[in-house]
Amino acid sequence: MTDNNRTFCDVVQPQILGINPYVPGKPVSELQRELGLTYISKLASNENPLGASPKAIEAIQNALTEIARYPDGGAYALKSTLAKCLDVSVEQLAIGNGSNELLELVARVFAGSADEIIYSQYGFAVYPISAQIVGATGVEIPAVQYGHDLPAMLAAITSKTKIVYLANPNNPTGTLFNRTALETFLSQVPREVVVVLDEAYVEYAQAQQTESDYPNGIDYLTIYPNLLVSRTFSKAHGLASLRVGYLVGCTEIIQYINQVRAPFNVNALALAAAEAALKDTGFVEKVITLNQQGMRQILEALSQLNIEHIPSVGNFVCINLGEKALEINERLLHEGVIVRPVANYGLTDFLRVSIGTQVENQHFIDALKSILQDIT
Ligand SMILES: Cc1ncc(COP(=O)(O)O)c(C=O)c1O
Repeated sequence: MTDNNRTFCDVVQPQILGINPYVPGKPVSELQRELGLTYISKLASNENPLGASPKAIEAIQNALTEIARYPDGGAYALKSTLAKCLDVSVEQLAIGNGSNELLELVARVFAGSADEIIYSQYGFAVYPISAQIVGATGVEIPAVQYGHDLPAMLAAITSKTKIVYLANPNNPTGTLFNRTALETFLSQVPREVVVVLDEAYVEYAQAQQTESDYPNGIDYLTIYPNLLVSRTFSKAHGLASLRVGYLVGCTEIIQYINQVRAPFNVNALALAAAEAALKDTGFVEKVITLNQQGMRQILEALSQLNIEHIPSVGNFVCINLGEKALEINERLLHEGVIVRPVANYGLTDFLRVSIGTQVENQHFIDALKSILQDIT
């Protein structure tokens, strides 16, 4: 509404009106403001409880002297390091302002108002939003046991389908599909349909699964030029606030992505930190070990409390609290624990809990125990 009471709803692009904006986890500072709490555990955004690698922080400090200059829009140094790590060429890489930006750019490159984009029920929220932004029809395929039904997604492909978004593992459910399922799917997808395999939690999943259980998307790029793999520095590398992600694919598609992205979409501090973080494999190992211990800690407590969960290979778990889930969420906030309601995904009975440090996890467990005792 403008000051003279006119609205812009009849001039805004029609598809924008229907967008349900992404709902982020509640920031710590907001809860501090609202409830005046000082001791807060944020387990709401699948962030890294160990922070970032000290080497990434050092790289940021070194890069600070150059902040008056534009960053390297071609991200040469980061791409070269990534190319070596992944055994791909520099031309196969696009760097994004978080992988979020890249997921959306794929939609902008390939889909328009006459097209369809397929994703799974309970799939990551950015997929339907990306479809809506470009005016494409989002086709949501019912999940099986909270995970992707790849055969049904395949069967839903029509001549209008431009993109299929897959998350492995998926957020918020933590479910995964295995190597055979992915191979069967990819071998039948028409070559002109772009498959985006979102591997935001690849490090956690790889550590928990055998190679045959968890496919590495990069392995399939030479066989399937229509496959794009997206990854991020926000999770295991602990750089969520810096916003860096990357897309790996065939050089032609990557060139289109680079044509539409903003010239300096990733800032210099983020580029420097990501490069240093990538090299610090010891830090990522520590993160993974902590995650495994934390997952065990939380699952043991849930089992003692007789609370069901969706088995997860990520750094988070969705727990079933029945019809009181939202009430319990409110009460957890009052105990200083921020978790994530997932009612916006249709998972009204669930709360998603990110795995934190031992102390944060215990804060959550103790708060949940006392709330449940009180409620029942
Ligand atoms: C499955 C999945 N993909 C992509 C992202 C986006 O991450 P970022 O934009 O921070 O790289 C997230 C973030 O939570 C995610 O869970």
